Amino acid sequence: MTIISFDDYLISKVIFVQILAMSKILVIGSCGQIGIELVLELRKTHGNHNVIASDIKENYPQSIAEGPYIQLDIMNSNKLTSLVKENNVKEVYLLAALLSATAEKKPLFAWELNMQGLFNVLELAKDKLIEKVFWPSSIAVFGKNSPADNTPQHTIMEPSTVYGISKLAGERWCEYYFNKYNVDVRSIRYPGLISYKSAPGGGTTDYAVDIFIQALKSQSYTCYLKPDAKLPMMYMSDAIRATIEIMQAPRDNIKVRSSYNLSGISFDPEELAAEIKREIPNFSMNYAPDFRQEIAESWPNSVDDSFAKNDWNWENKIKIQGIVKKMLDGLS
Ligand code: NAD
Ligand code: SER
Repeated sequence: MTIISFDDYLISKVIFVQILAMSKILVIGSCGQIGIELVLELRKTHGNHNVIASDIKENYPQSIAEGPYIQLDIMNSNKLTSLVKENNVKEVYLLAALLSATAEKKPLFAWELNMQGLFNVLELAKDKLIEKVFWPSSIAVFGKNSPADNTPQHTIMEPSTVYGISKLAGERWCEYYFNKYNVDVRSIRYPGLISYKSAPGGGTTDYAVDIFIQALKSQSYTCYLKPDAKLPMMYMSDAIRATIEIMQAPRDNIKVRSSYNLSGISFDPEELAAEIKREIPNFSMNYAPDFRQEIAESWPNSVDDSFAKNDWNWENKIKIQGIVKKMLDGLS
């Protein structure tokens, strides 16, 4: 047993009390594709103890075990309120949701989770228990009648999926809580996100992750979208940087209180397959489009993110060749 002096004991106790008193960041849905990487990045800046990871899952990945983890169902608003009060949480990143393809299989459940989860967090911010909220929207807010190329920030929005409907409604509610209750909620319409640290959660854009896993495993992939299904995409590190940059921007710079268009790069399955073939010459691609093709057809080919560029200096960095290299290196 190590014996420490009374002075050392007092110092460590003061430090412990100071850590407890510091305001905390809470990431809800932290075991998912974005959550794991966001928790790791936030902890680099704020320290492991100041970023609480939470998810409905009882077991959490080892990669986020360096800091606190609290199991939480976002639908349980009483537990969320206690967690926020007891831990002095001032900033929340709400990532828990059902994504597009999974949501189509459970539409009413998806609507309930995607909307009620958001209300539970916005209400805490309205009551001034939380100071700042991040909530992600998606390119899924657009529909067949939106301009497909360079889709503007403000345009026709008629989503046809339950996921897109819930994201568009969520955007309207975010703006409402800002206008009526001065809630500092910030949001991005993420494109399809590509990463290797955790599996994607059931989206239409997931092929752009699965393709790398199969390319390395069997040098072939059967794609559930058509060869020319062009979609906006982004590498995860750019998306995490965008998330942190919008949250760090001065409050007055955030002029769009629904959600910002965010552009990375756009490509279709055929183009991605061609890039992979440069690295893995034996790679071959087959196509067996399913219900996700119809979803992809209703989404933009590319989006105009000039509002994000002007308001908080957004700039995408990683292009398709960079993504292919990072994914193959990372998965290898
Ligand atoms: P994901 O499915 O990988 O992760 C979601 C996490 O939420 C999971 O770990 C899940 O266990 C958790 N969760 C589910 N129900 C919960 C509940 N009731 N309480 C607490 N946690 C719960 O999703 P993701 O890709 O990380 O996406 C996060 C957010 O970003 C979602 O709102 C999604 O709509 C949005 N988004 C993602 C993408 C993308 O390409 N990944 C694109 C656009 C928008
Ligand atoms: N990547 C997401 C999806 O396909 C877009 O929000 O569902």
